[in-house]
Amino acid sequence: MTRVGVVGATGYAGAELVRILSAHPGVKLTVLTSRRHIGERFDTIYPALAGRVDLICEKYDADSLSDATDLVFTALPHQLPMEIVPALLKRGNKVVDLSADFRFRDPDSYEKHYQPHTARGLLQQAVYGLSEVYFDDIQGADLVGNPGCYPTSALLPLIPLVKKDLLDPATLIVDAKSGVSGAGRSPSVTTLYSEVSESFKPYKVAAHRHNPEMDEVLSREAGTRVQTTFVPHLVPMSRGMQTTIYAGCTTTNRREDFHDCLQSFYNGKAFIRIRKDGSPPDTLHVRGTNYCDIGIQVDKPSNRLILMSAIDNLVKGAAGQAVQNMNIMLGLDETTGLTQMPYPL
Ligand SMILES: NC(=O)c1ccc[n+]([C@@H]2O[C@H](COP(=O)([O-])OP(=O)(O)OC[C@H]3O[C@@H](n4cnc5c(N)ncnc54)[C@H](OP(=O)(O)O)[C@@H]3O)[C@@H](O)[C@H]2O)c1
Repeated sequence: MTRVGVVGATGYAGAELVRILSAHPGVKLTVLTSRRHIGERFDTIYPALAGRVDLICEKYDADSLSDATDLVFTALPHQLPMEIVPALLKRGNKVVDLSADFRFRDPDSYEKHYQPHTARGLLQQAVYGLSEVYFDDIQGADLVGNPGCYPTSALLPLIPLVKKDLLDPATLIVDAKSGVSGAGRSPSVTTLYSEVSESFKPYKVAAHRHNPEMDEVLSREAGTRVQTTFVPHLVPMSRGMQTTIYAGCTTTNRREDFHDCLQSFYNGKAFIRIRKDGSPPDTLHVRGTNYCDIGIQVDKPSNRLILMSAIDNLVKGAAGQAVQNMNIMLGLDETTGLTQMPYPL
């Protein structure tokens, strides 16, 4: 059985990986690493997993991690994975990185929005892990850069329509809302209960690092430079992401045409649920699941398409998609370990 490890297991994305992987029938979770919780049982940090996970957090060490695993998830803040991933690959591990370090193909774009890249050579080798779109490339990959949560929620509804020229790429507005867990577990004033509980606000307006990530992918798919206007918002819930996209129509403004395009692109893809009746998706319906629910409406007077998507930022937006990518890399059914029944309420 394939042995897997999680580096940065104590963060929100890492803990979600532990939740999913510990119940995965096709792999064995063997190593969890932490910086601040070395020697502590994982279930003392996340008591919800008591009786289900008996691993102890270890200090990161490339040799012992590599000896005990075949595939590693890196769930660290950006800049750290680029320092450790080259050594893991050299030791024969496959890697799924959840940070931004291996999402960009253009190193200059990464460096403009993040910091100097110390493993630039790997950017051409890394595959962008938008599972439903890049399945074939992920199959043969040793290194997958798992997409950001906002890009996942925007790219899944947009890519099929951009590829078919059904919307004007110069008109794209992405208006997205995220639960607070998107900011990670490290304490900060902006995520204090008293700052978010009665609040709803945009942040990093037209300046969020996920903007160049989605533009790079959309430009590649559209065959022309795409520059979206992106406004993220913070909403007072712990998990969930709702994204609303506005785009000028081109050859059609019939809702059925957009629906049919998305439906045929995602035919047979278990985690994409497209609402036929035009009703809006809801974060409540995807909570704790790997689904991306998509709704479609057309505002005919303005000739504008309105796409709506809902995901769980920690699952389809992070750990769930990372496990889906692992399944694809290992030749398993891509849904393995990810088919938990959604909560009806
Ligand atoms: N949260 C989301 O919704 C989400 C969605 C998509 C992608 N991601 C990406 O996933 C990655 C992790 O995000 P997160 O939200 O889980 O962050 P987080 O909750 O802040 O967790 C960060 C993890 O990294 C470890 N870490 C931090 N600094 C470290 C250092 N200097 N050396 C070694 N380990 C260090 C922490 O370990 P200790 O605390 O144990 O020391 C912790 O396990 C990020 O790159 C993020 O962009 C997150």
